[in-house]
Parts: sequence; structure tokens; C-alpha cells
Amino acid sequence: KKPIKIGLLGLGTVGTGVVRIVEGHREDLEKQTGSAIVVEKVLVQDLSKLRSVSVDRDKLTDQPWDIIRNPEIDVVVEVMGGVQETKAYILEALEQGKHIVTANKDLMAMHGPEILAKAAEKGCDVFYEASVAGGIPIIRTLVEGFSSDRITKIMGIVNGTTNYILTKMSQEGAAYADVLKEAQMLGYAEADPTSDVEGLDAARKMTILSTLGFHSEVALADVKVKGISKVSKEDIQYGKKLGYEVKLLGIAEKHDEHISVSVEPTMVKTSHPLASVNGVFNAVYVYGEAVGETMFYGPGAGEMPTATSVVADLVAVVRNLNLGVNGQHSTAPYLEKKLKTDEQ
Ligand code: NAP
Ligand code: HSE
Repeated sequence: KKPIKIGLLGLGTVGTGVVRIVEGHREDLEKQTGSAIVVEKVLVQDLSKLRSVSVDRDKLTDQPWDIIRNPEIDVVVEVMGGVQETKAYILEALEQGKHIVTANKDLMAMHGPEILAKAAEKGCDVFYEASVAGGIPIIRTLVEGFSSDRITKIMGIVNGTTNYILTKMSQEGAAYADVLKEAQMLGYAEADPTSDVEGLDAARKMTILSTLGFHSEVALADVKVKGISKVSKEDIQYGKKLGYEVKLLGIAEKHDEHISVSVEPTMVKTSHPLASVNGVFNAVYVYGEAVGETMFYGPGAGEMPTATSVVADLVAVVRNLNLGVNGQHSTAPYLEKKLKTDEQ
């Protein structure tokens, strides 16, 4: 079979991990998909930057259209972040018949319906597993694993940066600002970490999860959001004395015809499994009427865990290409009528 050529938008934390896995697991990926996967072009901002992964100089470009309108490229992997520019690139890539893998929750929470509609029109795949909970395959789990059930609650720790900060404040008495810097150095935080600490990143993820889980479009504006920037060491120590850990929890519930979604710092009893989810780890609890309680745990951010999800999506696209079924097995939500949310 012909090699599948990918264009990578971004070679930062996640993009670097993607190159490492595509190169490092080359033979396994080829065995699994039946095709060699080749990184053909990589979009960056700064061509002169030193990179921690080796990519041929002639593959690097700072011109997005070298990828988006390049007839050689089959799949665009978007790991550059941002919304307006990225949305334009992805819509144009779909127009050109390219399949998309993205880790971008901002984009999918805000413009997911438009992007998925374009993909359906063009018979293209759009996969976005890495957009929620880094290395935990929670999107496929909701869409495929629970397709037989009725989910009524999704709750969890879905931001690695804030969980890393709260854990260090709780266990080591560390100062908020110092740990935030550490999380940025480790590649966990967003380019603008305000979206992590003010709860917006978690809200975007809860928008995606609740739309998929409840089969009803939830908008970002429907999510009540409060971040951790005002949580003090004293709050955390006081909670501990009473037998609680402070965690930034996303909680989405469906009651009959109504959905409520929130993100806020919450006192969690130390005996509850979510209280012992520490550091950059995430956990998502899902309650289904038939299955009952389930919980999924793993690294929520960082280079290799996130790249694992991105490359798993790439494998899905390549398998679909070889079967000629792109656009038919996507993670687009199956939607029923729109239910009322808190803000309406
Ligand atoms: P990052 O380290 O800041 O990397 C961004 C990359 O995109 C860089 O290579 C940068 O180029 C390039 N880039 C940014 N804007 C560009 C532009 N306008 N034109 C051309 N190139 C541009 O970001 P990241 O942490 O890898 O995150 C990427 C995406 O994955 C974001 O959507 C993020 O929300 C999502 N994500 C991240 C994680 C994580 O743990 N980091 C986890 C899940 C999802 P230069 O290298 O030249 O600066
Ligand atoms: N900034 C995000 C986090 C990256 O800390 O969870 C993973 O989505």
C-alpha cells in the first residue's frame, strides 16, 4: 500500500511527542495499519528554533498552505493550538479532502459542530481524542464503549495543570505561582495558562464530554466556571484537617430533560477515589443507567501521553483510508433534541 503522508501543524510539546511515536513505533504502526506513515511537512512559527527531536530541515515550513493545499498530504495533524487561524486551516484542509486529527479542545468546544459538519459533507475523518484528558481514551470510550447505555453523569479531574498545582500545594505546601511555573516548564499548561487556572480549559473539555455523553449539544456558555486562582494554601490545609482534598472538578449531570455542567474547586472526601488522583493525572467518572459506576484514570497532559492519543487517532484514520470508509466511523456526536441547560 502507498505510504500515508501527514502534515503536522506545530512542533511544540505535543508535536514533538507525535514525531517521536511515529518514528519510534514505525514498524508497529505499519503492521497495525498496513501502511507506512510518513511525516511529510511540519509547520512551525520559528524556523531557527532548536528542536529536541530531529526533523529534516527541508520538511519544516512556516507557510501553512505548504501543508493545507499540498496534494501529497493525506492527513493534517493539528497540534499548534489557537482558534481563529486553526479553524481556517482545518476547514480549508477538509475542503481539500484531507482528514484531520486535532488535540485542540478550544477549537472543538467552540466550533466542533461546524467542523464536523464540513467533515461529513466532504466524507473526511475528524478525530480529537487528545483534546480531553491527554492519554486517557475517554472520547472513544463515551462514543463507542457506552453506545449501548444511557449516561446520566460525567464527573472528573480533566485539567492536569491545576491538579498538579493543587497536589503540590497540598502535599508540599508549595506556593501557587512557583508550581504554575513548573507546570509550564513541564509542558502541561496552555500557551496562556489563564485558561487552565481559571477553569476554562476544563470547561471546554466538559463541553465536549457532555455533548458526546448526553447526545445533546452543550455550549461553552452553558458551563458554570470557577478556577483555582483564589484557592489559598490555607484553604487547602483547612480542608485537609477536616478530611478533604481540594480538587478542580468538572461535573455534568442529566436529569430528564435538563443538563447542568459546572467546573469549580470542590472539597472531596479523602476516602473518595478522586481525592487520590494526584499530580498531572486526570480521572473521569462516568455513570450509566445500565453499567453503573465506572472510572478512567491516566496522565492528563504532557508530551508522550498526549501524543499517544494523537497517534491512536492517526492509526484510526489510516485504517479507514485503507478500508475506504473515512467519514463513516467518526467521533462526531450522535445528537438527539437539544435539552435545556442551566443558563437557558
Ligand atoms: P506548544 O508547545 O506551544 O506548541 C505549539 C507549536 O505550534 C509550536 O511548534 C509553534 O511553533 C507552533 N505554532 C503556534 N502557533 C503557530 C502559528 N500561528 N503558525 C505556525 N506555527 C505555530 O503547544 P502544545 O502544548 O504542544 O499544545 C498544542 C495543542 O495541543 C493545543 O491545542 C493544546 O491545547 C493541545 N494539548 C496540549 C496538551 C499538553 O499537554 N501540552 C495536552 C492536550 C492537548 P514554534 O515551535 O516555532 O514556536
Ligand atoms: N493544559 C492542559 C492541562 C493540557 O493541563 O490539562 C491537556 O489538555
